Amino acid sequence: MIVCVCKSVSDRTIRASIAEGMDSFDELQFELGVATCCGKCEESVRDVMAQSGACESRCGVHAVARTATVVSPQAVPLTFYERKAA
Ligand code: FES
Repeated sequence: MIVCVCKSVSDRTIRASIAEGMDSFDELQFELGVATCCGKCEESVRDVMAQSGACESRCGVHAVARTATVVSPQAVPLTFYERKAA
């Protein structure tokens, strides 16, 4: 999938670059040109970095697993009016 439309850089290219040792956004930006034109791809590039573990090695930020959270009916706080009625 193309991540940076302006520079025609795919997620595969970004992952390959990370595998070759580029582990910072600045390096990817310099070598591949991502986020150097309109800049709209920066978040997507950082997502690919996080998924590839590049960010953990350089800055210590761990990728956050995105999972659906199921909220039980008891955990939903009551509104002011519901508390008054109870
Ligand atoms: S989409 Fe990457 S710089 Fe525009």
